[in-house]
Amino acid sequence: MTIAYLNDTFLPLDEARIPAMDRGFLFGDGVYEVFAAYDGKLFGGEQHFLRLENSLKSLRLISPWDKNKLEAIIHELIVKNGSGNQMIYLQITRGPAEKRMLSFPKTATPTLFAYATPFEAPSIEQSSKGIKAITLENTRWRQCRTKAITLLANVLLRQEAADAGCDEAILIEDDHAVEGTSSNLFIVKNNQIFTPALNNHLLGGVTRELLLDICRKEKLDLHEAPITIEQLHQADEIWLTGTTREISPVVELNKKLVANGKSGPMWHTMINHYQHYREALLRE
Ligand code: PDD
Repeated sequence: MTIAYLNDTFLPLDEARIPAMDRGFLFGDGVYEVFAAYDGKLFGGEQHFLRLENSLKSLRLISPWDKNKLEAIIHELIVKNGSGNQMIYLQITRGPAEKRMLSFPKTATPTLFAYATPFEAPSIEQSSKGIKAITLENTRWRQCRTKAITLLANVLLRQEAADAGCDEAILIEDDHAVEGTSSNLFIVKNNQIFTPALNNHLLGGVTRELLLDICRKEKLDLHEAPITIEQLHQADEIWLTGTTREISPVVELNKKLVANGKSGPMWHTMINHYQHYREALLRE
């Protein structure tokens, strides 16, 4: 039985209920985070909390729960759900209001909902098989830096990818590749690594940030630069990164093999560094 947390109570997930007038339910007026814990230890917590704070700020949502309180709740959720490797979902909405109106209600108490569930960290062997992706037009809003729960465009895009037999869609805007529906984008060309610089068209991923740190420390040739569709199609390697997927090599794009259709040498270098850094950070 999965244990969740709603407002100030731990309870079985299937007993968690929110009022129908909650603005998260009516408007998607809220923000979220997805964390991973390995052996019961939260990974990249500081970066996730910082992003959550920025997301809340951009919604002008004042959270009654500070970082220490959220951290304590998360740790209790991890323990109550059996420790080990866990995915933790946490969302804060503006809460239930008396009337359905777009502008902020004068009084509304935010809703906090979170749960943790075991997750299997992908092994190198599994990940190395790679994933399939398609390119789709980025139909999302212009505030993708905010990790908002309003994910309808992402839902439709991901379903279109699934309908095409793909695991992820790489989103295209003005002839440039931006990111995936729930992942950041990297490509490799001639041993150089590229990822788009941060702006409002993409989410500042915690995994992305860790890869940038690794590139700096390991002196890998990394460029935060725009990626054109042409560069995407001519890449030696394409990777998609995210908290639970870690680093997925894309081996097929729009039904064509990426290079030789196998995870590339730079991916192998990076995933080994990533796992090494992750273990070192968790030991700290
Ligand atoms: N998604 N870009 C988007 C649009 C995302 O939704 C995510 C994460 C990322 C990668 O961010 P991070 O490395 O911090 O996980 C990039 C989470 C996992 C989700 O929605 O489930």
